[in-house]
Amino acid sequence: MCGIVGITSNKQVTSSIINSLRKLEYRGYDSAGIATLNNGFINEVKCEGRVNALEKNLAKNKLQGNVGIGHVRWATHGIPSTINAHPHSSEKVSVVHNGIIENSTILKKYLIKKGHKFKSQTDTEVIVHLITEYLKKDDLKKTILKILKKLHGSFALGIIFKDEPDLIVGARRGSPLAVGYGPNENYLGSDSYALKSMTNKISYLNDGEFCVIKKDGVEFFDVKGLKINKKILELSSNEQTYDKGDYKHYMAKEIEEQPTTIKNCINEYIDKINSSINIFNFPWKSSEISSITLIGCGTAYHSCLMAKYWFEQLTSINISVDIASEFRYRNNRFNKETLYVFVSQSGETADTFAALDLCNKNKMKTCSVVNVVESSIARESKFVLPIHCGPEIGVASTKAFLGQMLVLYILCLKIGKMRNDINKKVYFTKIKSLFDLSKMLKKSLETESRIETICSSFVDIKGSMFLGRGYSFPIALEGALKLKELAYVHAEGYPAGEMKHGPLALIEEGMPVVVLAPRDQYYKKTISNMQEVIARGAKVLLITNKSKDEIYSENIWEKIEVENISDDLLPFLITVPLQKLAYYSALKKGYDIDKPRNLAKSVTVE
Ligand code: G6P
Repeated sequence: MCGIVGITSNKQVTSSIINSLRKLEYRGYDSAGIATLNNGFINEVKCEGRVNALEKNLAKNKLQGNVGIGHVRWATHGIPSTINAHPHSSEKVSVVHNGIIENSTILKKYLIKKGHKFKSQTDTEVIVHLITEYLKKDDLKKTILKILKKLHGSFALGIIFKDEPDLIVGARRGSPLAVGYGPNENYLGSDSYALKSMTNKISYLNDGEFCVIKKDGVEFFDVKGLKINKKILELSSNEQTYDKGDYKHYMAKEIEEQPTTIKNCINEYIDKINSSINIFNFPWKSSEISSITLIGCGTAYHSCLMAKYWFEQLTSINISVDIASEFRYRNNRFNKETLYVFVSQSGETADTFAALDLCNKNKMKTCSVVNVVESSIARESKFVLPIHCGPEIGVASTKAFLGQMLVLYILCLKIGKMRNDINKKVYFTKIKSLFDLSKMLKKSLETESRIETICSSFVDIKGSMFLGRGYSFPIALEGALKLKELAYVHAEGYPAGEMKHGPLALIEEGMPVVVLAPRDQYYKKTISNMQEVIARGAKVLLITNKSKDEIYSENIWEKIEVENISDDLLPFLITVPLQKLAYYSALKKGYDIDKPRNLAKSVTVE
């Protein structure tokens, strides 16, 4: 992961670097640092912790300079500490890095033999010494070409040089990198979002390319070092302001926003007057697609899993679901008639991107479901379906999860209709139900006070289980993931019917177990499984939907009832109490809800 920024200007750059680093904190926040060039000397200030801590350090140790690079880190090699924080510098050069250098151990041995002394435990430091070594004999461009050949792995680099008072080198292999153009200054950034407060004119580096940025111009080079031209894209100039408002955390705000974001997304995709789905220019005919493979990581993977149930229920198409980090290294049977759908909030997740890249290289049909439409995954896919839910800042995904599920559901209706799998009557009923979703979500948010009380039982426990069948199984996985991510409680999502094959042994007296049993086709079966865990001493929190019918089970510890909607949309409603359960459990423990430990919003390492 990690976030990179670089600025060369005719003004002082430190405060603009700090501003950009704040925007990049979603990529990592265990340490931060800046290096600038001043009167022919590289100076750096770095520290463990967040950009706020770095700013305090900078107040004590002022950094002057018109050229500088900055970094926020998510540790891969070496613990989060000041010494391991980037930039890493020698007397000659300073480097910020996102990614992993896979052959760093071998390179380190070689450099130590040459007399280089290492200070940190990072893989990044080998880049510093390698450049320093090559600069003894070669000019800057040759050096960059040589070191890029030597480095294995995926990375994005920002580099400044002692002897180059107006120059930053950016290089990309795997990890994304953008260049921005300003008045008498130019920029390098991990994404355009980091640069948006300074410019809306952006170019993106492709894999293998590098660039030389000066304040009056930028040159781009391909893998062989040949000069290339780049398009300058103009992004919408109005930077979206997004703050917490009166909420304590972004996550709380993002949960509450869900009825609105869902409504916006439905309005984007569905024409209310004639109930048609606005997916225009879909590049393939239905006869060209015989199967779909859905690919994602984390929460996005759960939305893929959810979509499998819908596609199987409503269409005759073959569906498979894959975790991106597994897909990318398997011996896949690529099939020209398969549509590969990549789901990602950020659109930058390294594993998902690599899986997409693999499909593109094999000339497959690729489509992405993303929130950030300027992202690498969106740019590289042949067709993009945005989720229109606005910026999501909380690391644990909430509104983007519902957005991803919604777009996949709409895609399922579209493909089902294209293939004549869904008859007119069913189609119109489904579209009608979609227009009730936002209202029902809003009502389901009102379970607040109950959950605040219930969560006390999830705070100091050995672990918990989340059980569901059918449509509720992916939601059980997501509920457990939220509790792990935010409250650092071990939680397992399990298909309720699979409990008897092992996990039942974990149930002991007083263990809180969340059972998702909305009144759908799986309801009775799930209630039977619930009784099995109650009989073994579990404290069951049952999440279901409102009904006049009694629940045939005794000794249910707590019950939360969401609103009613068609069965296949109930997963949206039952997700809400699970998001709140994780939120309030973390709040009770005093944890950093928007930035949970060890995690990051955009995972750009594999
Ligand atoms: C990280 C985040 C998760 C997210 C996953 C995939 O692990 O912490 O919340 O689900 O990445 O992210 P993406 O941006 O691809 O949806």
